[in-house]
Amino acid sequence: MTSMQDLKDHYGFTDDDEELLKAFQPLAAQHKERFSGEFHNYLYGLPETTAILNTSNRQRLLEMHSNWFMSLFGGAYDNNYLNHLTRIGHAHVKVGLNVHFVNVAMNRVRHFLLNLIDENYPDRDERRALREATEKILDMNLDVMSASYREEELKKVFVSR
Ligand code: HEM
Repeated sequence: MTSMQDLKDHYGFTDDDEELLKAFQPLAAQHKERFSGEFHNYLYGLPETTAILNTSNRQRLLEMHSNWFMSLFGGAYDNNYLNHLTRIGHAHVKVGLNVHFVNVAMNRVRHFLLNLIDENYPDRDERRALREATEKILDMNLDVMSASYREEELKKVFVSR
């Protein structure tokens, strides 16, 4: 991805989406601990991911994943944010995590957030707008993280030639 603006254009991520996510931040903060608890309980319940998680400090992982969760609502969706997402993707390639589990994990995040929105936004239009903004930011994250995996695969192809 060349720039964050391209990514936003492709996903139709607007200034309104940005404002909606920023406004959601206080509610997300209230549920941050529950998010990271559930996220890790799930990942420590799978043999493939536990093996990788056990190579890192548990508390540090909790902090990294809950900081990421909050960064979804940080509001500064610029090229620094794009670089940050690229680095996250590479960090997972480096620990040997199959991209399949990144997709699985993102699915858990999605359910967590969509449920939180459903429970707290009685107004149908407001709820729909926030759900859409949330879906976009999650898909943009997943897109950039997957691109890191593709980059690594391409490197392997070139090295093996
Ligand atoms: C590190 C996010 C899924 C294991 C990190 C970091 C972030 C992050 C932000 C810190 C990276 C850094 O600053 O260098 C995410 C997101 C995920 C995800 C957004 C998917 C939605 C997973 C899964 C595992 C995992 C499924 C399962 C093993 C790790 C490990 C590290 C890490 C072991 C530490 C890497 C290191 O020590 O450099 N993750 N993660 N992550 N994540 Fe995830």
